[in-house]
Amino acid sequence: MVGVKITWLGHSAFLLEAEKKVLIDPFISGNPIAPCSPEELDPDIIAVTHGHRDHLGDTVEIGKRAECRIFSIHEVANYIKSKGVFAEGMNKGGTVNVEGISLTMTEALHSSSIDASGFSFDGGSPAGYVIQIGGHTIYHAGDTTIFGDMQLISELYEPEVALLPIGDRFTMGIKEATKAVEFIRPKIVIPMHYNTFDIISQDPLEFKQAVESKTDTKVIIKKPGESIEL
Ligand code: NI
Ligand code: MN
Repeated sequence: MVGVKITWLGHSAFLLEAEKKVLIDPFISGNPIAPCSPEELDPDIIAVTHGHRDHLGDTVEIGKRAECRIFSIHEVANYIKSKGVFAEGMNKGGTVNVEGISLTMTEALHSSSIDASGFSFDGGSPAGYVIQIGGHTIYHAGDTTIFGDMQLISELYEPEVALLPIGDRFTMGIKEATKAVEFIRPKIVIPMHYNTFDIISQDPLEFKQAVESKTDTKVIIKKPGESIEL
């Protein structure tokens, strides 16, 4: 089937639906802008960008119930497995193919601990994904600042859609994300990782104006729960 529906679930959580469903960074419980409950999600694949709670989110609970395949960097996969649900590790530059969908793990400049009370588990390093689904290529940057090798991601994978954080403080803000769009050169950008909490409040219209005045990329601003179809 050619075609994919991309639904923003708030923060960095997205559901990509073609013949199979891919759920990325399912932070639903504890996410004040989540449009659904974790019980409503029934993915075939979960892809986790890094260990932080606002990305690993409900992965273990959804994975147990949905019996889906879970992918993350090796260290996060080990942690998920320690919670009694199977997960498959991978690392940057690697690609997995699952029933017509491919996930390629990319670089991200951030950190990736798994936080417990009073200490952290090793979460390896943070990542992004390039996902080929339904005849389209989508780049989820994870939590990151801008880096020059986003130009390599553009050259190698030619993503049509980029999902980019703009919230500042923990990731790039509008200035850096606008420059990142110049590096990645997608047709469409959907901003993420903003306005979940006051500490990452941001005006996405400011991002849209900056990007669309400098590039041919269209910025599509969604409310949590809203979709685009390609
Ligand atoms: Ni993070
Ligand atoms: Mn985050």
